[in-house]
Amino acid sequence: MVHSKYSKPSFLRSLALVLSILSLLINVLSYGTVPPLTLDYYSSSCPTALDIVRKEMECAVLSEPRMAASVLRLHFHDCFVQGCDGSILLDDTITLQGEKKASTNIHSLRGFGVIDRIKNKLESECPGIVSCADLLTIAARDAVILVGGPYWDVPLGRKDSTTASSTLASSNLPTAGQGLFSLVSSFLYQGLTVTDMVALVGAHTIGMARCQNFRERIYGDYEATSNKNPVSDTQLNHLKSICPATGGGGNNVTAMDYVTPNLFDNSFYHLLLKGEGLLNSDQEMYSSLLGVETKKLVQKYAEDVVAFFQQFSDSMVKLGNITNSESSVTGEVRKNCRFVNT
Ligand code: HEM
Repeated sequence: MVHSKYSKPSFLRSLALVLSILSLLINVLSYGTVPPLTLDYYSSSCPTALDIVRKEMECAVLSEPRMAASVLRLHFHDCFVQGCDGSILLDDTITLQGEKKASTNIHSLRGFGVIDRIKNKLESECPGIVSCADLLTIAARDAVILVGGPYWDVPLGRKDSTTASSTLASSNLPTAGQGLFSLVSSFLYQGLTVTDMVALVGAHTIGMARCQNFRERIYGDYEATSNKNPVSDTQLNHLKSICPATGGGGNNVTAMDYVTPNLFDNSFYHLLLKGEGLLNSDQEMYSSLLGVETKKLVQKYAEDVVAFFQQFSDSMVKLGNITNSESSVTGEVRKNCRFVNT
């Protein structure tokens, strides 16, 4: 009897390992760094995934319309830090410092409970299959549709990170106080263009902001940009009543688009034309002397809602495709979006 050096099962295991490393290598070599996202990623492994997300988002937005805005923002804040890898969803633990307490996120990000509910449903239907990063990307798309915005197909196949970065959350996420040049830089850094930035910030057509993020604006150049128009003046007084110049109230909220706060439309751009943008960063896109290109885009999206919807959809796909090349290869599908698998 001839004795092989390797027993059959262990030989097969090694062969399988070599083959899977080879296939990963082929992926990495042929697509630059990471395997590509695909539209049918879950079509056989979890065919109901998209329906589950949609149904839960419907319930969430029906019971609180603002939830559409909050989930959309969660996705944006996920993608600008280490790529779209679900890192924003991780809670702090003894060994991991998450992104939730970074200055742009604390007391501000909402929607984590909705994501937990969707994840629980997905885990009971198809355990260990749908990543939190994908779940969040689909939920953001559905959020937009549910409040009247455009539909787009969502490429899928992201993996969840096993790390988060509060440092990158503090440095990469734009703030209301930044000037136009600095805002543009933070989008270019992520591979997004000026056009992407102006279209994506149209997301501010839904959702609310806290006084601490618009105080400087309403006690600053709001009056000048809105030309002391009487209607704007009434709105300005209303804003001042919500957000006193001194003495607290920093967490008081108001809609960024006071005309149609729960509708995804282009009225946000109309407000910018009137000089009534709530955030300094928003008004900069129209009123900054440096913003020749951004001003033209604001005018275009104010005039043409179809052009806005088309560009917003394309730019959302680009935002969602910002990858974390490390977690694409070594990442996981978290069982609970708040914690790395043990
Ligand atoms: C130009 C860069 C941006 C800046 C400076 C900015 C800044 C802000 C600020 C300060 C708030 C209010 C937060 C608070 O007061 O708690 C906010 C809210 C929001 N942002 Fe942005 N943002 C930017 C781009 C984006 C993008 C690209 C998206 C999505 C594609 C987005 C979606 C939202 C939404 C939906 C809300 C409302 C959230 C809610 O009501 O819970 N923002 N943003």
